[in-house]
Amino acid sequence: MFFFFYFFIFLINLSNSEICSTATWSKQGITVAGGHDYGDKLDQLAHPMGIFLDNNDNIYITDGNNDRIVRWEQNATIGQWIAGVKGPNTNHTFPLFIPYDIIVDNNGTVYVTDGGHHRVVRCYQDQDECEVLVDNIQSTGIAQDNQGFIYISEYADGQITKWNFNDNEFDGDFIVSKLQQSMFIFIDENRTIYSTGYLTHRIVKINENDEEPILVAGQSNKAGDSYDQFDNPSGVYVDQQGSIYVADQGNNRIMRWLKDATNGTLIAGGNGEGSNSDQFHSPTDLFLDREGNLYVSDKMNNRVQKFLIDKSSCKKN
Ligand SMILES: *[C@@H]1O[C@H](CO)[C@@H](O)[C@H](O)[C@H]1NC(C)=O
Ligand SMILES: *[C@@H]1O[C@H](CO)[C@@H](O)[C@H](O)[C@H]1NC(C)=O
Ligand SMILES: *[C@@H]1O[C@H](CO)[C@@H](O)[C@H](O)[C@H]1NC(C)=O
Ligand SMILES: *[C@@H]1O[C@H](CO)[C@@H](O)[C@H](O)[C@H]1NC(C)=O
Ligand SMILES: *[C@@H]1O[C@H](CO)[C@@H](O)[C@H](O)[C@H]1NC(C)=O
Repeated sequence: MFFFFYFFIFLINLSNSEICSTATWSKQGITVAGGHDYGDKLDQLAHPMGIFLDNNDNIYITDGNNDRIVRWEQNATIGQWIAGVKGPNTNHTFPLFIPYDIIVDNNGTVYVTDGGHHRVVRCYQDQDECEVLVDNIQSTGIAQDNQGFIYISEYADGQITKWNFNDNEFDGDFIVSKLQQSMFIFIDENRTIYSTGYLTHRIVKINENDEEPILVAGQSNKAGDSYDQFDNPSGVYVDQQGSIYVADQGNNRIMRWLKDATNGTLIAGGNGEGSNSDQFHSPTDLFLDREGNLYVSDKMNNRVQKFLIDKSSCKKN
């Protein structure tokens, strides 16, 4: 009985996540976090960078210049303090310094690349407690695969390492060192790693057990604003159909590359640098919820924007 029920739920979740090739997103973004200038009040953000949505669509944000992690529930008007010290009236004691990227596991445990401190940190939300997992590492991006392993990218030397933080060894499993550079990373359901090259203006993927990266987007290899180019690509997300979504920071736009495409399509922004609802100022990271709605950390606008998906063109037969 239980198993049948579980299976049914699983199928529903799968169908929700199908995003067809002709799907579109609203042109106007809705501000779902921040948007009240640069600052450290709980309704403010200061250069947000990494974002992650948990299974309840709570939005976790590395609030970079506030040296803190905050969580915004859907439709909330203020965020909740999760980790970091600076700011008004906090009881948290564990310092973060320009936290970069974030993931939350199924238990609600938070993993952060504490970039300014060159380390990786784990925080337990219900206990106000954090611990250092790895020290002396140029930690930038972080991702978790479906077996619970955690991957850390190191910006300057382009290395991505794989870790099992559930045992007490904390040994970094060497994965790949042939990237010129690695910024944000994403791991898909097949444990393929996607990595953005901020200065190489391209996206590569690394298949499991294969050290050689494969170029998947940005083939021209130089900065530009045509649809086969990026200018300082930052965050990356991949859906279950293998479409790649990229925060094209220098172009202030979000691009979507269908699997095996040789050019992308514009899905948000692309209207110059600005703070209108159809504009960005340095979009840095992005995430899709299970419906396919798009969330973007709009760094220099100190806000997170949500773009509703429109699947009306998807209906078959
Ligand atoms: C948030 O607000 C929207 C629009 O009013 C509503 O449709 C949605 O159900 C709300 N979500 C939550 C989690 O309250
Ligand atoms: C800090 O802790 C004290 C004592 O537990 C509590 O009364 C206070 O509300 C806490 N402050 C915040 C901002 O959580
Ligand atoms: C998550 O919680 C389960 C059940 O409490 C526990 O067995 C598991 O070790 C936890 N995983 C992590 C990564 O903490
Ligand atoms: C993972 O592999 C399956 C089977 O080959 C494929 O259908 C699916 O699209 C792949 N997922 C991604 C994200 O590429
Ligand atoms: C990009 O590729 C899509 C198909 O993936 C195509 O429909 C579109 O016209 C192309 N756009 C440009 C500017 O080449």
